[in-house]
Amino acid sequence: MSTVSKTTNEEVASVVEKPHDTRASFNPNIIAFACHYCAFAAADLAGVMRLTYPTGVKVIRIPCTGKLDHSYVLRAFEQGVDGVFVAGCLVGQCHFLEGNVNAGKRVGHLKKLLESVRIDPARLEMYNLSGSQGPRWAEICIEFTERIRMLGPSPIRIAKEEKNRGKRCDNL
Ligand code: FES
Repeated sequence: MSTVSKTTNEEVASVVEKPHDTRASFNPNIIAFACHYCAFAAADLAGVMRLTYPTGVKVIRIPCTGKLDHSYVLRAFEQGVDGVFVAGCLVGQCHFLEGNVNAGKRVGHLKKLLESVRIDPARLEMYNLSGSQGPRWAEICIEFTERIRMLGPSPIRIAKEEKNRGKRCDNL
């Protein structure tokens, strides 16, 4: 009878017995594309005010939401993030005139694109806020994280995790 080493047993356990994140324990990975002027200032203010918001939100600063390219968002989902939000200045207050309005249209288009590949469009959202709205920033992060938590892990993330598990099993 062949014996299985303790290390291999542990590996198998980590591969096979590791349950999928349950809704309660699932900590969504979220990317926030924040414009330098208002949204990033609001995020900064939230930090200065020592407001707490979920740690899964990673902020990427862009000069203006008008600079947001479709590929930034699609690449983020392709990498397995669970949700993406875009945060820019209030309508009428974009430092590049209509960058935020154009970003809103782009987000609308991207939502349709996501839906066509069976990714829930609710995983993407656009928000507008001013630089003085630190508490609103924290609120957005909490609300959006909760929304994604309810949706569960992204199907791409699940597929990637399953693929990695398969690879680990092949290596046994
Ligand atoms: S500068 Fe903030 S959205 Fe354009």
